[in-house]
Amino acid sequence: MEEFITLAQIDEATDAVRRRISVVPKVGMILGSGLGDLAEAVEDATIISTADIPHWPQSTVEGHKGRLVIGRLAGQCVLVMQGRIHFYEGYSMQQVTLPVRVMQRLGAKYLIVTNAAGAIHPDYLPGDLMLITDHINLVGIPGFNPLRGPNLDELGPRFPDMSEPYDRQLLNLAREIAREKQIPVREGVYAGLSGPSYESPADLRFLRVIGADAVGMSTVPEVIVAKHGGMRVLGISGITNKANLDGSAVTTHEEVLEAGRIMVPKLKAIVLGALERLSD
Ligand code: HPA
Repeated sequence: MEEFITLAQIDEATDAVRRRISVVPKVGMILGSGLGDLAEAVEDATIISTADIPHWPQSTVEGHKGRLVIGRLAGQCVLVMQGRIHFYEGYSMQQVTLPVRVMQRLGAKYLIVTNAAGAIHPDYLPGDLMLITDHINLVGIPGFNPLRGPNLDELGPRFPDMSEPYDRQLLNLAREIAREKQIPVREGVYAGLSGPSYESPADLRFLRVIGADAVGMSTVPEVIVAKHGGMRVLGISGITNKANLDGSAVTTHEEVLEAGRIMVPKLKAIVLGALERLSD
């Protein structure tokens, strides 16, 4: 398996998508476990199976469909990725984030990421939405950063700033929409782990101490690559389960998928509201 992906490979993948569409998607969206239904609302949709895109890693996880849906949503041209790729599936960090590079090369200026996450914050409950204000790159700190390896200068700088991974204006927009539509939202810090095993009680107590409010197995690499590429990011976690700091309950993928479905209407309202008001 190739760890690093070249610009030529990124552009081959991008061309395969571009050939099928006649629009420039302004917003890329990645939908997490159980949250993929949002793609059904896309109008005039062109659907591309990711199996038809060169170099594109195939999702192996239930609840992740492996297709791109390109069309209009709330008046914006969007490219929705239904089903993401995770590091734990065995792909390299650059393979995991190839979809974001393709979005960038197609011309997308915004990335909206959603994920299923476990609550670390003691007050956060399954069914809650959490606007992501910041993240802890736990997988990247020891070296699994998607930007490791030769820097592709055409795509972004060698040492990108990460002082504002989640765009403050977009965060304010999401807050405003939640308030107007009376959708209760939480806010907090997302800790990105590799998985696929869920956390032990001691792992979870550690995450609480270091300042995490929610934990999951995705998102952080995608956000780093998007920021490297100059995209503005909005991130929303759907809390699917309560982290089990005292070892008194078990977490299952079925529970995560089911809770995800319940959150789709709330998530949809916020994402559609944000899309409606995106500036150019
Ligand atoms: N831990 C890690 N990833 C998750 C969880 C969790 O509790 N819930 C959903 N994704």
